[in-house]
Amino acid sequence: MTSTTDSDSGLSKFHRLLVDQVRHEFTASHQYVALAAWFDDQDLPQLARVFYEQSLEERDHAMMIVRYLLDRDIDFALPGVDEIETAFSSPRDLVALALRQEREVSDQFQRLAKVARDEDDYTGEQFLQWFIQEQVEEVAKMSTLLNVVDRANGNLFDVETFVARDMPGEGEGSQNAPATAGPSVS
Ligand SMILES: [Fe+2]
Ligand SMILES: [Fe+2]
Repeated sequence: MTSTTDSDSGLSKFHRLLVDQVRHEFTASHQYVALAAWFDDQDLPQLARVFYEQSLEERDHAMMIVRYLLDRDIDFALPGVDEIETAFSSPRDLVALALRQEREVSDQFQRLAKVARDEDDYTGEQFLQWFIQEQVEEVAKMSTLLNVVDRANGNLFDVETFVARDMPGEGEGSQNAPATAGPSVS
């Protein structure tokens, strides 16, 4: 392998960042459970559903990366999750947090792609393509939801109606998605 290796872990920089990304995806999954539970507690079932589902998708993203690391025989330790935010005062805070999180994840994948390219890891670069596309959709989805919340101007019944009509459950996972380690849940 031509990859630059880190003297401590023996992993290429790309593989170290991928292991970090497992942590980011599990953290996002955990954060989305917190958002969903908050909406659930506020009797906003449609918003709660969107974030419960989103949480499962993030878990699948983590497990797709785990699958890749296993398939490529990378010696890694499964990371834990980072701290999440749980104190919110308005529905807008939660959706804004979700949008911020998705933008951060998009940046993380851009960086991963750059490092894969720098290290001539073409297999790794190709693996990232689905995630980069997926991030475009997830940022767009949260950006739309934030606009709807702002336009509803405090009328959460309108937001719930929009979500029920325009954000239906996606059912089985998207096509061409990488395989997960173990069963996929979204
Ligand atoms: Fe994700
Ligand atoms: Fe996401």
